[in-house]
Amino acid sequence: MKKIFLSLFIVMSVFMNVRADEGMWIPMLLQNNEKEMQEMGMNITVEDIYSINNSSMKDAVVLFGGGCTGEIVSDKGLLFTNHHCGFDWIQHHSTVEHDYLTDGFWAMSFEEELPCPGLTAVMLKKMEDVTDRVLAGVEKSTTTEERAEIVKNNIAKIIEETSATTDYELEIKSFYHGNKYYMIYNEVFKDVRMVGTPPSNIGKFGGDTDNWVWPRHTGDFSIFRIYVSPEGKAVEYNEDNVPYKPAYHFPISLKGVEEGDFTFVFGYPARTNEYLPSVAVNQEANVIYPVSVDLRGKILDIYNKYQEKDPKVRIQYASKHAHLGNGWKKWMGVIEGINNFKGVEKKHAFDKAFTKWANYSRSRGAYLELIKDFNRVYAEYEPYRLATTYLSETALQIEVLTFAANFNALAQVTKDTPQEQIDALVAEAREAAKVFFKDYYQPIDQEVAAMVLQEYINNQPADFRPELLNTIVEKYDNVQAYVDELFAKTMFASEENVNNLLDNFKASKAKKIAKDPALMAYKNVMDFYFTNVRPNVAKISNEISELQRIFMRGQMEFHAEQNPDKMMYPDANFSLRVTYGKVGGFSPRDAVHYKHYTTLDGIMQKENPEIYDYVVTDRLRELYETKDYGRYADKDGSMHVAFIAGNHTTGGNSGSPILNADGHLLGLNFDRTWEGTMSDLIYDPSICKNISVDVRYVLFIIDKYAGATCLIDEMTIVE
Ligand code: ARG
Ligand code: ASP
Repeated sequence: MKKIFLSLFIVMSVFMNVRADEGMWIPMLLQNNEKEMQEMGMNITVEDIYSINNSSMKDAVVLFGGGCTGEIVSDKGLLFTNHHCGFDWIQHHSTVEHDYLTDGFWAMSFEEELPCPGLTAVMLKKMEDVTDRVLAGVEKSTTTEERAEIVKNNIAKIIEETSATTDYELEIKSFYHGNKYYMIYNEVFKDVRMVGTPPSNIGKFGGDTDNWVWPRHTGDFSIFRIYVSPEGKAVEYNEDNVPYKPAYHFPISLKGVEEGDFTFVFGYPARTNEYLPSVAVNQEANVIYPVSVDLRGKILDIYNKYQEKDPKVRIQYASKHAHLGNGWKKWMGVIEGINNFKGVEKKHAFDKAFTKWANYSRSRGAYLELIKDFNRVYAEYEPYRLATTYLSETALQIEVLTFAANFNALAQVTKDTPQEQIDALVAEAREAAKVFFKDYYQPIDQEVAAMVLQEYINNQPADFRPELLNTIVEKYDNVQAYVDELFAKTMFASEENVNNLLDNFKASKAKKIAKDPALMAYKNVMDFYFTNVRPNVAKISNEISELQRIFMRGQMEFHAEQNPDKMMYPDANFSLRVTYGKVGGFSPRDAVHYKHYTTLDGIMQKENPEIYDYVVTDRLRELYETKDYGRYADKDGSMHVAFIAGNHTTGGNSGSPILNADGHLLGLNFDRTWEGTMSDLIYDPSICKNISVDVRYVLFIIDKYAGATCLIDEMTIVE
């Protein structure tokens, strides 16, 4: 018995004792971590980081563009984020004549800053625990469905009531898988302008080849600015708007980092799943990701082939490529990491230990069957998850199909539809067409279509395929024949045809749109999804959420028994978090050790004018050769480019400030190491590291490379 207890304890403690460098913490509750942070080297208090009544660092951190983080670095609302976070906007403003992707862009005055309609920066103003109010009316006997209904209604009610008392935008988010709820008050800035970006061969140096990999040499930053009305209100773009005066902006440190230094990262991690049962981790890493990796790899091969041939196509598909490629590569890393780390086995041991623990007390009855239930439900889930994955990674990757969907409303128009409604629909479709054709290259789409449909047919059983695919199998010689016909007959693959349609639109044309093979294909695929897949996915994922809520509660109870004074951290959910850890290299495998920083020398070593990802401009080479680094050089005389530390970050943390013991800016977080990408499922501090660009390299590029010294003058620099 003693032995069982001992081994149980060891297994539990592997997962339960949250290690110093693991965790993404809610800033409002950071008092719990203050002692540990200070013991690790922090010189400030958590009140300096997050304060409701006084200005604090939280007033300088924003959710950028709904998916990344940015930080304010001047009293004129100047904002740093990553190059890859600003990428869509850089591309948006780029043309063959003004190719900011290739050449970079620097506004030398406020007038030259470029508006980005639709881009937002969201700043958290305050946060409060509303768990009791959200769960009011939930009883022991409440069923899962009733609970969901109660929670939904309570949330709507609380938001409505509170809205009357505040100008801020409100959201209520679930934490700990539905065990806690917080209401968040946000200020949403809607006039954010592009100020500067290095050329891609700096901002994306290493490209997708080096993505997710250490050692890294990417100058992954871009610069924006928040504007507000002259009265200081967060409003939409207006010529009269003025630069925002923040309550706080980050001082920038030129001191650099050394091994063992305390750092923390403040930002918006999107999603993690650290508390899953083994069956879920296995499904993710060994069933779903391999499919996505395979399909995306094949699409990317097609993109590459055409992008290499034509510079216009390279720009058109740059962003699409980066988006597909990012998940593709990350998931490869996750699969490898989970396997090397024996992640599924470790989770399995934990599941067993958890069930044993549940057995020791009658009060833990709710947890006894959990793992068994998870196993059953995830098995039911698998075919539907695969179906969803195939759908999104194949049919929905055919651009002409998803574009055709924009015309569905026009296809329903009749002679009774009021003219102004028709005009509005035409205007909407025209806008969609403009965006679409700017970045559309039909030969790519046609080749992708044939490939993905073939994959869909080969890998999904007939009853898990949209009827369209079964028709292709029955009626056409091969998939290619169908695809050729589709592209020959649809009007949506040609800008001219679409413009013709919209210029002379009449209700009588609705029928023709409805019969277009691309729109019909899209609808067929979506009908199948909404009838055969979605209802099952919804039902099963509700069951899973419910089990996960209980599992999470159980893990928290156990943890509290072991560690009364350190909470468990909630999974990431796109809310503001603080994570901390020390600077340091690591050893991913036998005989290999990585240093904690890279330098400009490494860029010169990687330089290759033949390979797009490794081109170095003459200007950068010149600065390197003359060692013209000014005050941005490290004390060792070299130019440091990037560094790694043990901060627990994830997607969404890109662009986050990485700060030193005094809360001064050291760099911008932008990635993780290949070996550690599994950290969204299992965090292992020995290999999970975050990668940041050294802020001294950022300033060096702004100042010495681009000569945008006026921007440096705005900042507060600590030498
Ligand atoms: N891997 C990083 C993140 O997940 C950076 C992605 C952008 N860089 C790239 N080469 N695609 O977002
Ligand atoms: N590159 C990621 C991002 O864009 C960060 C990460 O996943 O580590 O947020």
